[in-house]
Amino acid sequence: MYSQQNIKELHAVTNRWLTLTDTQNIVPNLEELRSILRFHEYRYYVQANPLISDFEYDSLYKILETAERDNPLLITKDSPTQRVGAGLLKGRQAGQVSFPKTQHLVPMLSLENSYNAADLLDWDRKARELSGLPEVEYCAEPKFDGASISLVFDENFLVRGITRGDGETGDDITANIKQIKSVPLSASFSRYGMRQVEIRGEVLLNKNNFATYNKSLIEEGLPPLANPRNAAAGSLRIKDSKEVSRRNLEAFLYHVSYYTTVSNKSQQADTTVSEPHTGEDNNEPTTHSGMLEMLWNLGFRSPVKEMKVIKGIEGIISFIESFEAKRDELPYEIDGMVIKVNNLALQEKLGMTSHHPRWAIAYKFKARQATSKLLGVEFQVGRTGAVTPVAKIAAVAVGGVTVTSISVHNEEYIKEKDLKIGDAILIERSGDVIPQIVKSLPELRTGDESFIQFPKVCPICKDLLFKPEGEAVWRCVNINCEAQVVERIIHFVSKDAMDIRSFGEANVRKFYEKKLLKDVPGIYKLDKDTFNNMEGFGARSVDNLLTAIQASKIQPLHRLIFGLGIRYVGETTAKTLARSINNIFELGNASVEQLLQLDDVGVKVAGSIFTFFKNQDNIQMLHQLQELGIKMDSNKTVITKGNLNEQTFLFTGTLTQLKRTDAEEMVEKNGGKILGGVSSKLNFLVVGEDAGSKREKAKKIPGIKILTEEEFLKMINS
Ligand code: IVH
Repeated sequence: MYSQQNIKELHAVTNRWLTLTDTQNIVPNLEELRSILRFHEYRYYVQANPLISDFEYDSLYKILETAERDNPLLITKDSPTQRVGAGLLKGRQAGQVSFPKTQHLVPMLSLENSYNAADLLDWDRKARELSGLPEVEYCAEPKFDGASISLVFDENFLVRGITRGDGETGDDITANIKQIKSVPLSASFSRYGMRQVEIRGEVLLNKNNFATYNKSLIEEGLPPLANPRNAAAGSLRIKDSKEVSRRNLEAFLYHVSYYTTVSNKSQQADTTVSEPHTGEDNNEPTTHSGMLEMLWNLGFRSPVKEMKVIKGIEGIISFIESFEAKRDELPYEIDGMVIKVNNLALQEKLGMTSHHPRWAIAYKFKARQATSKLLGVEFQVGRTGAVTPVAKIAAVAVGGVTVTSISVHNEEYIKEKDLKIGDAILIERSGDVIPQIVKSLPELRTGDESFIQFPKVCPICKDLLFKPEGEAVWRCVNINCEAQVVERIIHFVSKDAMDIRSFGEANVRKFYEKKLLKDVPGIYKLDKDTFNNMEGFGARSVDNLLTAIQASKIQPLHRLIFGLGIRYVGETTAKTLARSINNIFELGNASVEQLLQLDDVGVKVAGSIFTFFKNQDNIQMLHQLQELGIKMDSNKTVITKGNLNEQTFLFTGTLTQLKRTDAEEMVEKNGGKILGGVSSKLNFLVVGEDAGSKREKAKKIPGIKILTEEEFLKMINS
């Protein structure tokens, strides 16, 4: 899509815009700014290989947004700012959203399924018989496990995005599709002689974003979703497109189902017979893989890197076996592979049955679902006092892991899923995601099943449980309840909070039981003597643990805020709070109204922060932490902004003390810049564990200083 020369030019133009001093030049050059923003969106969302930092992208985006706000007549419909719509169907109640129904240009058929090599051999035999060929060329690609969509482009502009619906008619979700940054708002189909084009694909939520989203649901006391597929499908139905944008959906496009040619000749892509594709020219492609390459060249994320074209089914079978072995390493969920006859003319010859095309077949991977039996329910108390029912189930292997217990979240969830002790249940474990109960199977009941009885008192401290009005969760409100204290310490040391490696859950419990640790500040009072009283700690592991505890003292402020475990304050809110203050104690003086001014802080969150900082026990704990040397200031005051003075940084390898995103944020907050690769423009390369080719390259370029993570931390904190 972009040539090497182009990339160099766009990078140079980007740098010019990033260092722009003459604001007079902005308005006459808006189209240039748009084209570089589109280029960086493409690098980030389609190629997953950004050339600039998020911060730099955001600053360029803001320039465009401001200029367009002041000059609304200059806005174009494919401007990067036009993804953010005003919201769909205003005024309707959440959960009752309906979308206009729209017909697909070509019905969306489903695929025939296969489960083993024998099924594929049989399918190949039929394809050979029907085609009269001794060997057929196939293209195999992943079967993406998301929500299917179709997109219509008219004269190069995206005009419609539709859900699958019943295959004939789906919901018009155009505004939401525009939130998916890997879908271009315009694409030069005219270069291929195409005017109106319908393309098919799958909207996905990658495993990371799915886990983050589920975490936020749990933090809100809501039940998480069973799999990224449901999350993607649900996200496409949200009426607020800004919320859709926040979910970070992705899309793979894998099929051109229809197009008209510029000469107005209407034809279905499946039936296209045209000149052979000669590579460089822009003829209509004659193969499926050629179509995927065309989509890629037009800026779509199509599975060109994942696909393989092979003659004969045997090669396809070994390719899909090797792909299945890599399934867990992929950042998104796939539930199989799709094998397609590669030649489009042959596809037409094979045609369709009433349900599915004869030229394609889905090969389904081993199920991530399994059935089991609900044996009983235990109740666990979390750090906020929430009492969570955990189902004990008959051991069953799902997706390579044996599952014996599954959280069933709350009373409401149990009712909704109609769960009873003794029930047969269907469970699912999507990739690295925690297993969930999909449903019970009431038709298999024998009459011996029993209701799940919720306790009235805390299973740990025996205080009466309480369920606040409008909430789904029963709580133990005794903040000294031992279960809560332990869970608070575990949360404080956890990876996304203070990240005290090696001081994991098991150690916290051990130390607590032995009364060597009774609260959060106690972590920083541990010394060599404490460990000598414990079994199982060698001198080395004690040293490592104490070093990790020391290192955590200078964690960025948002990690401390998150680590406090304030209800509803997740990582994102903690970052927002840290950005808005100089010192943690300022939060104690903030009114609810002031807190409400902040991004992402609603009434519930503001109330919760306010209550936390009004509690004198909490303030006292913070003072204790301060006396023990924990950093309470945001970087803003510790380091005067700008002392990195435009110096450029790049991180490589695995960092052990910091999250990469936190480290990059530290650089940017201090006036430094993050670069996308090693070049003579780079001042500092920070190398973590297992740093590879970047370090080697940097060594050869004079002027680049290579820092260890410790040296970087020293530099930031000096
Ligand atoms: S081709 C007419 N390719 O799987 C053929 N489908 O079970 C159009 N799917 O309805 C479909 N990945 O939603 C195709 N690489 C892929 C796919 C794929 C996922 C979905 C699609 C389809 C369903 C069939």
